[in-house]
Amino acid sequence: MDLQLTNQGVVVLGGGSGIGRAIAAAFAEEGACVGVFDRSLRCSKWPAELEVEYVVGDIADSESVQSAARQFEETLGGVRHVICAAGIGSGKFGFPFWNLEPADWPRVLEVNVMGMVHTAHAFAPGLRAAGEGTFLFLTSVAAQTGSPTDPPYSATKAAVINFMQVMAKDLAPFNVRANCLSPGMVKTPLNESVWAAGQEQLPEDERQSYEEWAAAKIKTIAPLGRWQQPSEFGAMAAYLASPHACNITGQTINIDGGQVMHA
Ligand SMILES: NC(=O)c1ccc[n+]([C@@H]2O[C@H](COP(=O)([O-])OP(=O)(O)OC[C@H]3O[C@@H](n4cnc5c(N)ncnc54)[C@H](O)[C@@H]3O)[C@@H](O)[C@H]2O)c1
Repeated sequence: MDLQLTNQGVVVLGGGSGIGRAIAAAFAEEGACVGVFDRSLRCSKWPAELEVEYVVGDIADSESVQSAARQFEETLGGVRHVICAAGIGSGKFGFPFWNLEPADWPRVLEVNVMGMVHTAHAFAPGLRAAGEGTFLFLTSVAAQTGSPTDPPYSATKAAVINFMQVMAKDLAPFNVRANCLSPGMVKTPLNESVWAAGQEQLPEDERQSYEEWAAAKIKTIAPLGRWQQPSEFGAMAAYLASPHACNITGQTINIDGGQVMHA
């Protein structure tokens, strides 16, 4: 299938690791001109054949996102597709919710919700002016189930779905689409941090390795009973940006082994 992404300007915020990195790689393999924005400088790990322009910055900082957007618009020859994969959890085990303090919430809100808002404001004018383009945001199964391990994380990911739907409606007259991808369990630093926070609560004889914890969790919650791979998100992201998906907007697509099912 020809995805018609050659030479298209694509920006992946949070593309330095895990799912975002795989998405950036998938677009680069399709011949797109890819820009990555991330708080971590991991560009040295990119294979030389995948040319990616890397900007270091904090998505919670509006100025930083605005200035990266202007830079990418110039250097990539216009930006047509924007993917926001940057996300964090509180780093603490939040079951029950009073295990956390209100002070554990603001940074998660700043990155997961305000980061999305900064992304929307920085890139929407360019896509509106072009009369085409797509936004894609990473949410989570936690957003759709009220996951009881990290309330600030699950609440912010629900907000991501809601604002994505608002964006999809507001931008439809400009032929700009917005969607979400919702992972279940993907082996990344963020996923491992959920395990680490939970283990700290347990007596030593009940602790599990990351592999043991994940295997038991996946068996319990995912009908297909297996990990999702970062490359699966790259493939779906590229498809959603392509003209083949021209009627898909306002959707949350679960790639989660069947954890969340809708009628
Ligand atoms: N891994 C999973 O199982 C899983 C499950 C559900 C949802 N998700 C979502 O998928 C997305 C990608 O997560 P991942 O698992 O690949 O995690 P990851 O930690 O591997 O990657 C997240 C990236 O975001 C960047 N980032 C974080 N805060 C930032 C900031 N303030 N400014 C700029 N960049 C920042 C990090 O440096 C990192 O490169 C996240 O939004 C996450 O919530 C992941």
